[in-house]
Amino acid sequence: MEKKIFSGVQPTGNLHLGNYLGAIKNFVQLNNSKENKCVFCVVDLHAITVNQDPKELRNNIRETVATFLASGIDPNKSIIFNQSQVSAHSEAAWILGCTARMGWLNRMTQFKEKAGKDKEKASIGLYSYPVLMAADILLYDATHVPVGDDQKQHLELCRDIAQKFNNDFKVENFLIAPEPLIQKEFSRIMSLKDGSKKMSKSEISDQSRINLRDEKDQIVNKIKKAKTDPLPMPSEIKDLDNRPEARNLLGIYSSLTEASLEKSINEFSGKNFSDFKNTLTQVLVDKISPLAVEIKKLLNDKNYIDKILSDGAQKADEIASKKIKKIHEIIGF
Ligand code: TYM
Repeated sequence: MEKKIFSGVQPTGNLHLGNYLGAIKNFVQLNNSKENKCVFCVVDLHAITVNQDPKELRNNIRETVATFLASGIDPNKSIIFNQSQVSAHSEAAWILGCTARMGWLNRMTQFKEKAGKDKEKASIGLYSYPVLMAADILLYDATHVPVGDDQKQHLELCRDIAQKFNNDFKVENFLIAPEPLIQKEFSRIMSLKDGSKKMSKSEISDQSRINLRDEKDQIVNKIKKAKTDPLPMPSEIKDLDNRPEARNLLGIYSSLTEASLEKSINEFSGKNFSDFKNTLTQVLVDKISPLAVEIKKLLNDKNYIDKILSDGAQKADEIASKKIKKIHEIIGF
C-alpha cells in the first residue's frame, strides 16, 4: 500500500544523535522504499516559537537540509522544503486553531517542559505549536508520520483535531488522522549526563549530547565522560532495570549497528564497561563523523541547497494549496 509520509525537523542548530536515531534515520529508510511518497519539512515557523537570531536561523535552515542529504534522503524522490515558504501552513494552523480546544492544548507536556516555571512569558506560538504541527501533517493527507517518542502526544492531538473538524463540518474522512511511526526500541535517546532526561538541543551542557557535526575528538571525549554506574555490563535485559545510563548507551549502540538490545547485551556480557565504551566510540566515529564531513561539504554550495528548497516548496505548495482551498469551501469562506 502506498504510504504518504510527512515529518518535520526544527532548524534550531545542533541536530544531534537523538534527532538522527529517533527520526532522520527512519526518514531515509522510508525515502528508499518505492511505495512511499515522502515530504520532509524544515519547520522554521516552529523554530520562531522561541527567540532566533535571523542570520543563524537562515544558516540553520540550510544546515538541516544538508543533514537530510548527508544522511541519505534523495531530493529527487522526496520533497524537501521549508515550512515558511508554503503559506498554507500558517493559514491552516489558524483555522485548525479554531477547532482545537484549550483543554487539549493544556495537556501538552512539551509545552509545560519548554515554558518551564515562567509560563506567562512563553510565546503564544509555543503554546499553539502542536496545532501548527497538525496543520503540517493534515495538509498533505499524510497517512504515516515518523517521529521520536517525544512527539507522540502531539500526534494524538493531530488525530483529535482531524476527527473534530470532520465531525463539525460533516465531512467524513476529509482530514486524514495519521498513524505515528515510532520505532519500538530506541525511540527516545537520553542525555549522556543523565539517563532520565531526553537528549536535547536545548540542554545547556554540550557534553549531554553527540551533535551530528561533532569532530572525532569530541565524540571520543563525550563517550569517555558519559555517565555510567559502577555495576558490570549486564548479561540479560532485566539487568538494565534501574540502570538508565547503561540502557541508553546500549540502545545507542544497538540502533547504530542495527542489532537488537538482546544481541548487544550478549556481545558485551562479562566485559568491562570501558571495553564497551571503546567499541561504542568506534561505531559512533565510523557512522557519525562522515556525516559531519558531508554536511560541511554540502554547506559550501549554498545555491545547491537553496535550489532544493525552492523546488521542494513549489511541489509542496501544489499539494497544500489544493487542500487549503477545499478547507475554505468546507468552512464557508
Ligand atoms: P524536533 O525538531 O524537536 O525533533 C526532530 C525529530 O527528532 C526527534 N527527537 C528525538 N528522538 C529520539 N530521542 C531524542 N532524544 C530526540 N530528540 C528529538 C523528534 O521526535 C522529531 O521526530 N514538532 C516537531 C517537528 C514537527 C513535526 C511536524 C514532526 C513540526 N511539524 C509534523 C512531524 C510532523 C519537533 O519539534 O521536532
